[in-house]
Amino acid sequence: MRLMFVGPPGAGKGTQAVRIAAKYNIPHISTGDMLREEIKGGTELGKQAKSYIDAGELVPDEVIIEMVKERISKPDATSGFLLDGFPRTRQQAEALGTFAVLDAVININVPDDKLIHRICGRRICADCGATYHESMLEDPKRCPKCGGSLYVRDDDKVEIVKQRLSVYKKKTQPLIEYYTDLSILHDVVGSGGIDDITDTITDVLEQK
Ligand code: AP5
Ligand code: MG
Repeated sequence: MRLMFVGPPGAGKGTQAVRIAAKYNIPHISTGDMLREEIKGGTELGKQAKSYIDAGELVPDEVIIEMVKERISKPDATSGFLLDGFPRTRQQAEALGTFAVLDAVININVPDDKLIHRICGRRICADCGATYHESMLEDPKRCPKCGGSLYVRDDDKVEIVKQRLSVYKKKTQPLIEYYTDLSILHDVVGSGGIDDITDTITDVLEQK
């Protein structure tokens, strides 16, 4: 199964991708996570990406396309993958079409006011990578799964989030029409409970 999740920042792409990828035993490929790993590792790519990410802008297409092409060519992705946050521009979508064919695109819809609230309360475990909202946590500093310390992403500040949302509307939202025209887009309401949304996505994929 070759899947892609699209949706604004905070829609729950990452939260749902972890669950759906585990269910179908396919790798979860998040370009945002890959870029943050590069930044952490202090690589040239990471240094280049950081200035864009911190400004809430997109990293240039050529860099991202090369990174995904290489990742998808790895053995664990031969029987499928779940792309989270890629493609994000028309150029990325067209490039992807030259080296992979998607079976389904899941468009996760959440109203803007909820997105800002979700992102500004997001906490991530530095050890296991689990994502939470602060309202779910008894101890705001410790991961309830592994005890690791929780951190806030550098680009989760309200002004940067607003810029990310505006970039999403301008550059990524047009892909909804692009994939609708290819008859592989499925809309999912992303504002209910996390388990219910996973069930809805699973139903959509099972009915395909
Ligand atoms: P990326 O990391 O992809 O960020 P994003 O698209 O802005 O999306 P987020 O990760 O913020 O949100 P999400 O939808 O994954 O939500 P989550 O599940 O975490 O990209 C970051 C940057 O990298 C970009 O700005 C760009 O610079 C660069 N980049 C990445 N890919 C690129 C590309 N292809 N081209 C160019 N540049 C690229 O959930 C959010 C919060 O909500 C959490 O707290 C969670 O617990 C909570 N939550 C989730 N679901 C629910 C629910 N149902 N109810 C209540 N709370 C919920
Ligand atoms: Mg994410």
